[in-house]
Amino acid sequence: SDKPLKKKSFFVKVTVVFFGPFGSLFVINTHFFFYFDFQIVYPNNSKVSLGNELTPTSVKDEPTVTWDAEPAGTYTLIMSDPDAASVKGFLHWLVVNIQGSDIHSGKVLAEYIGSGPPLGTGLHRYIFYVFKQTGYIDFTEPYSSNTSAEGRLGFSTQNFADKYKLGSPVAGNFYLAQYDNYVPILHRQFMPGRCINLVLKCHFLPSQCITSHEEKGNVLI
Ligand SMILES: *[C@@H]1O[C@H](CO)[C@@H](O)[C@H](O)[C@H]1NC(C)=O
Repeated sequence: SDKPLKKKSFFVKVTVVFFGPFGSLFVINTHFFFYFDFQIVYPNNSKVSLGNELTPTSVKDEPTVTWDAEPAGTYTLIMSDPDAASVKGFLHWLVVNIQGSDIHSGKVLAEYIGSGPPLGTGLHRYIFYVFKQTGYIDFTEPYSSNTSAEGRLGFSTQNFADKYKLGSPVAGNFYLAQYDNYVPILHRQFMPGRCINLVLKCHFLPSQCITSHEEKGNVLI
């Protein structure tokens, strides 16, 4: 904890303007502490960079994530979409009890799922947070694979951080993404057949339903 993390941080105010689910305009002011060395790089070399726009296609595979960790520190990594309005937030990735910044040493509670913002819902923010734990924590959340929506709908980073007394994030970064033609493929991956009674109020077969973005009540991820 002697490491001068704060010297490397800077405080920015980000204003994101985007079109919401039903065409309305939202302006969101968000405060973050960012660290210069919180790097998120996708296998195709796309980098997350303080609100740059990436495509769902380019973020479909799990990225490499590194931050300025204390080697003996224990960390939680969260990636979430706060703009998944109809489900009040969506959890994309959750890894806990990470030693240093070696993500493979941590326990995956929710496998990585890329971005799937439905057509016509504009840009969503996909935010990565790193929290420093005070030590090992026995998390009670069930495991969620990359084909499961379990535990992901309605996820609140704030509530999770409060529940485990994680305090404020020590690192953060985010990108924006809007619909592209990878989105229907992603939706089918993790909620095949569930959409009819779970989230999407539509009356088609699951495979068609998933691409019926004009319906009110679509899941926004
Ligand atoms: C889902 O996770 C498994 C490992 O658990 C991995 O092999 C597979 O590539 C992942 N699928 C996608 C589409 O990311």
